[in-house]
Amino acid sequence: MILDGKTVASQIHDELRIEVESLRARGIVPHIALLLVGDNAASLSYVQSKSRACEKIGIASTVHRLPASASHQEVIELICRWNQDPTIHGILVQLPLPAHIRTDDVLQTIDPQKDVDGFHPVNVGRAVLGLPSFVPCTPAGIVELLRRYRITVRGKHVVVLGRSNIVGKPLANLLMQKAPWADAIVTVCHSAADDVQAYTRQADILVVAVGRAGLIHGDDVREGAVVVDVGINRIEDSTAPRGYRIVGDVDFASVAPKASAITPVPGGVGPMTIALLLRNTVYSAAGIAWEKPLFQ
Ligand code: GUN
Repeated sequence: MILDGKTVASQIHDELRIEVESLRARGIVPHIALLLVGDNAASLSYVQSKSRACEKIGIASTVHRLPASASHQEVIELICRWNQDPTIHGILVQLPLPAHIRTDDVLQTIDPQKDVDGFHPVNVGRAVLGLPSFVPCTPAGIVELLRRYRITVRGKHVVVLGRSNIVGKPLANLLMQKAPWADAIVTVCHSAADDVQAYTRQADILVVAVGRAGLIHGDDVREGAVVVDVGINRIEDSTAPRGYRIVGDVDFASVAPKASAITPVPGGVGPMTIALLLRNTVYSAAGIAWEKPLFQ
């Protein structure tokens, strides 16, 4: 089974469009501000996709670009302005930031109630405690995708490859929550492992979030496993229209025949990340992000 994130994301967009209309009828125009510092091509394309997706369902978006030479202070001041602006409900700083900008400081400056990426320590802490919070969009998108395909994680061994603050850590936290939609047994595996395969082969559900093209092959997965590929890697390809193509961390050709379900790249996790960003923004505009349970 292919876990078609593109189709599921489009269903979520349709659901959210109705919520946006009812907010607008009450005089609230959901509005997200996105900051891109520098000119990393992949980051630019993510920010553009996010902004376009917002506009399509009636969320206003402001994209602010700063040059890579922008100072730390400039970034902080911009975020402070957005924090004070009551017409802005969501603030997203596209990562990675240039090395001279202190990412932790920047993320901690964002008003936790506008933190639609869920990266502020207050939201991280709330999520760890199982309290309603903004949840990082990729982990939330993965949970939502599995739920909509009725793939239960309760009691299953989920192996997460990668321990980033954006995907691995928050996903492991979500899946281990004591909740009907979670309750998984979670292993987080990372680059210090001597024998990665010894872990991946144990997974009922394998999530790969490392950022290395084609890292996982058929030999690495158990027959019947569910495989979630979070990788978005650009591979040079002179025959492709843009000179590159996008591949995941999973070698689809060898893994798909063994998996009971698998996410494609593109069209798997990527669209779900954007759909959950839209949801976080709508909830923020509605003032319910800290009231709604993480999932129902
Ligand atoms: N860079 C890679 N993934 C993400 C994400 O989900 N949010 C932000 N802000 N930056 C990213």
